[in-house]
Amino acid sequence: MTKNNHTILVVDDDASQRQLLGGFVESLGLGVREAASGEEALESIERQPPDMVLLDVRLPGISGIDVLAEIRRRHPALRVLLITAYADLRQAVAALKSGADDYLAKPVDLDELRAAILDALGLAGRSDAWGAVEVPPLPDGFVCHSPAMRRVVETAAVVAPSDAPVLISGESGVGKEVVVQLTHRWSPRAEGPLVAANCAGLPESLIESELFGHTKGAFTGADAQRRGFFRAADGGTLFLDEIGELPLALQPKLLRALESGQVTPVGSEVPVAVDTRLVAATNRDLGEAVEQGTFRDDLYYRINVVELAVPPLRERRDDVLPLARRFAAEFAGSPVRLSPQAAQCLLTYHWPGNVRELRNAVQRACLLCRGDVILPEHLPPKIAAPAAAGEEPADTGRLSQVERATILATLDECGQNRTQAAKKLGISRRALIYKLRAIEAE
Ligand SMILES: Nc1ncnc2c1ncn2[C@@H]1O[C@H](COP(=O)(O)OP(=O)(O)OP(=O)(O)O)[C@@H](O)[C@H]1O
Ligand SMILES: [Mg+2]
Repeated sequence: MTKNNHTILVVDDDASQRQLLGGFVESLGLGVREAASGEEALESIERQPPDMVLLDVRLPGISGIDVLAEIRRRHPALRVLLITAYADLRQAVAALKSGADDYLAKPVDLDELRAAILDALGLAGRSDAWGAVEVPPLPDGFVCHSPAMRRVVETAAVVAPSDAPVLISGESGVGKEVVVQLTHRWSPRAEGPLVAANCAGLPESLIESELFGHTKGAFTGADAQRRGFFRAADGGTLFLDEIGELPLALQPKLLRALESGQVTPVGSEVPVAVDTRLVAATNRDLGEAVEQGTFRDDLYYRINVVELAVPPLRERRDDVLPLARRFAAEFAGSPVRLSPQAAQCLLTYHWPGNVRELRNAVQRACLLCRGDVILPEHLPPKIAAPAAAGEEPADTGRLSQVERATILATLDECGQNRTQAAKKLGISRRALIYKLRAIEAE
């Protein structure tokens, strides 16, 4: 549904990424056109100029930067938003000088993309242009009370329909796997299989045959052929947990499988076509792993197009009591109540183990309280003694009042555009987001 007549041209060589970004643009009530190369983009613009171009920097053939130069020559007023991988950031800064209106680094934060688009089209602040993301009904028992979790769920709703790989990041126990289930359930693949595989703790040779299969006799002990998880998930979703643990030697094989839609079983030279969508999870900062050289940047940017980071529970305290009540209902045969003091303990504790720790605490309390009222004494001692346990670890990077005020003021100045604010502050966008999380947590 187009609420106004604006049309955006999405330029990306990867069809699933066009589908993802295009779907988001449509959800804003804007029209979409697509181009798979710079050449196609220029032709499309000649035929009929769009109102804005979303341009991926890395394109085969003419590069995004050259496309930009050509657009500037022929259509000086046309708005162009560059989308770039971190590795291209310097190039992107140069591009800004040569005429891009703005740029976003991958993984793209959808709030920022929305702001950048509405800004560029002069629609910022116009409520009729907003078209909030439509979220399908949440599964029973899924708790999403806090604005931070709401954003995660909205992002999941945007990425779900596309075939683009997704990377879900977050600390241990935050609910990454429940978000994986949402993206599968809300995708056109919902009727297909959801197959889970864990990259940690297996030797390299075994992971390869688990993922891609093997032929009979491919190695000692391979008595029968094996299809592998990729093919088991054909028509559905493959959930690769702890992808940060995937050995470096296997990373190019995974990348090739994603790019070609084919896997080659161990012991075979014949690739087999698969129609599998990848959703990966990590509790490590993969961006950092890329900088350290333990994770390939090309794979990182392929799987991490849109930012889907599940915040720790201590940064979304609005979810604590709804989750606790939900778990109490699950574990207690009859309805149990939380005493106000117990609720206070849950709210002040810092939850290093996140939702899983909360769930375990409530399970224990339901047993101890014998189906009546949960009191502080039914909670694990470190949770019941907020004074001792409420302290944050020393390295969470508390910000000084000055730093905090500067960041918030700069964000205001930049209309909440984090890319611009980070530039103004002279720090990376990642660093800014990290600091914002620290502010939110205070
Ligand atoms: N929003 C939520 N609503 C209801 N239950 C939740 C929610 N988030 C997490 N849980 C529950 O908390 C527990 C931990 O969640 P999950 O397994 O998804 O975490 P994870 O991030 O995958 O953890 P790990 O990093 O250890 O793999 C599960 O029992 C899950 O059902
Ligand atoms: Mg998990």
